[in-house]
Amino acid sequence: MLIFTKIGELQEFLVQKKTGKISVGFVPTMGALHPGHISLVEASKKVCDLTVCSIFVNPTQFNDKSDLDRYPKTPQTDLEMLKSAHCDVVFMPSSEEMYPEKDERKFDFGYLDKILEGDHRPGHFNGVAQVVSRLFDAVRPDKAFFGSKDYQQVMVIRALVKLLNYEIEIVTCPTLRESDGLAMSSRNALLNPKEREVSKIIPKLMQEARELKKKGKEIPEIKEHIVSELNKRGNYELDYFTICDAETLKEINSFSEAKKHVALIACYVGKIRLIDNVLLN
Ligand code: PAJ
Repeated sequence: MLIFTKIGELQEFLVQKKTGKISVGFVPTMGALHPGHISLVEASKKVCDLTVCSIFVNPTQFNDKSDLDRYPKTPQTDLEMLKSAHCDVVFMPSSEEMYPEKDERKFDFGYLDKILEGDHRPGHFNGVAQVVSRLFDAVRPDKAFFGSKDYQQVMVIRALVKLLNYEIEIVTCPTLRESDGLAMSSRNALLNPKEREVSKIIPKLMQEARELKKKGKEIPEIKEHIVSELNKRGNYELDYFTICDAETLKEINSFSEAKKHVALIACYVGKIRLIDNVLLN
């Protein structure tokens, strides 16, 4: 496994490799890796000749400084996990390498970056678009792999690819979960044992939303149920629970408004903000 910290050196290596017409798969991450991240590396390895994984905690996508400060960093374990997964190349740039100058670009993804996560974390998707476009320019992959755990992020990345005319195929991979259903996330490591225990209510409620739809309940009733279940318990603060058209991410009030439906939740457990989503079809 090769490790690069400089864009120039990474590009030099990739250009040489690419003369042999090999396909490059790319998995961008912020480190503190868990099996969910590794599943993306495995997905890339299955279909690409060479897999590049980046580890960079991107400051421009954190609207909350304390969230950035406490973001977990486990570089040694990350490298061990990537090595065991037979990842070919790791790119671990410094902030100065990624942003030699301040990135002033403002992306406009229409309503897509203003709702849900974009609404609760102003500037978040602009920062994601800034770093992902810089990473795409550095790696120039054929395919890039993203997790559907960050449902809205995948839609923003697809919009970014269109906007900047990248010839990169975006591959969406399923959410890996802990045995109690909690979606794997780097932030789970920040939960204390009690918070970790109560967090399992989040996937449980998402499953209940599925069940309620199957039983013929409509969206307002499902929302009411989820909110009241959370309110019954302490320790949670709901940012949003909503149901959207799974293809456009437009909020809907009745299932008849869309063909495919996705329920999305963002919720604080103590100080830690967790997100999850589930397709309801
Ligand atoms: P990060 O949160 O580290 O996630 C990196 C990738 O792993 C994302 O595509 C994310 O959706 C995916 N992922 C996270 N948890 C997962 C799970 N439980 N199962 C499957 N995939 C999972 O998302 C980011 O970093 C950043 O915003 C980034 C795109 C790297 C830009 O900085």
